[in-house]
Amino acid sequence: MFGLLLSVLAGKNPEGPPPLWMMRQAGRYLPEYRKTREQAGSFLGLCANPELASEVTLQPIRRFDFDAAIVFSDILTVVMALGHPVSFDEGPKLSALTSAAGLERDRGCWRQVLEPVYQALALTRPRLAPEKALIGFAGAPWTLAVYMAGGGNDEQKAARLWAYRDRDGFQLLIDRLVDCVSQHLIWQFEAGADAVQIFDSWAGGLPPELFERFVVQPTAAIVHNIRTVLPGAAIIGFPRGAGLVQLERYASATGVDGISIDPSVAMAWAVERLGTVVQGNLDPLALVAGGAALQDAVNDILTATRSKPFIFNLGHGILPTTPIEHVRELVRLVRGA
Ligand code: CP3
Repeated sequence: MFGLLLSVLAGKNPEGPPPLWMMRQAGRYLPEYRKTREQAGSFLGLCANPELASEVTLQPIRRFDFDAAIVFSDILTVVMALGHPVSFDEGPKLSALTSAAGLERDRGCWRQVLEPVYQALALTRPRLAPEKALIGFAGAPWTLAVYMAGGGNDEQKAARLWAYRDRDGFQLLIDRLVDCVSQHLIWQFEAGADAVQIFDSWAGGLPPELFERFVVQPTAAIVHNIRTVLPGAAIIGFPRGAGLVQLERYASATGVDGISIDPSVAMAWAVERLGTVVQGNLDPLALVAGGAALQDAVNDILTATRSKPFIFNLGHGILPTTPIEHVRELVRLVRGA
């Protein structure tokens, strides 16, 4: 199985348009997703049901013929596998962790909680055309630690304070997360994933020293752990908001094949300077707006990436208010049809 997305991730230039998929492409902007979620009873119920998770993984491919499907799950399943409870209301709800000492270390216990993800991948791969890539994913240790320590929206205050006040205790949490995330990604490859993406949604705004220690080093360790078992594993990193200097460091030090960039980064700079395959970076709000704003934004990205190994994506997850017709228009614009 070596379709368009995998060949681009391996560094080849496609003859025609770039491969295209969207972060959070299975979700609430789709009526068929809302229906299946209702059937599952809850968001976590949907994540835990391999048959329904496979169904929502495939829904955006049927509708838009994207070049990749991303398995339906959530980054916080790893937190649950470590024995820390998670619930979803409007957003995720977790009690604030202050020590990593009690986290689950037994791989069998991790596997039990995460098993629905592997079953969903195994069900989905044969249902997907061979030229389409199946993407697995995990949250990066820093971003998961941010949620476990108390959430991300207040500049990741709890995690950052923990990292400053109790460096060794926080490092232990990161180390545990590196182990579980590495194993989770290896199991996803073994279940049928063709590539994986590591979401570091809260990588932005960190002082360089924290970025190095809690974003770059853990990501490099995960890439190393995966490639020890699976030498050719295709891996994309998404250090959202990292900024130019830290993106360059991430690109040169982590070993990822591709980097997904957020909308703040000029695409021409990224394809020139990063030295990895670049993915991104349409502003999800340009997709909500549609019309000339969408056309101009897509054209700018396509012009900057012409004859470079590049994967078209959004700069962050698709918003629930996105009109479906705008997604269709995006596909037409990218594929030149
Ligand atoms: O990309 C895909 O379509 C695959 C599925 C996927 C989901 N979450 C489904 C989901 C993926 C890859 C994620 C990743 C994820 N989850 C991230 C990293 C990417 C990012 O957006 O920064 C983060 C930070 C989370 C944690 C999370 N999950 C939050 C903050 C929320 C609530 C906010 C929101 O967008 O709803 C979720 C819930 C969630 N995860 C939903 C979906 C489809 C919505 C739940 C619902 O159906 O109500």
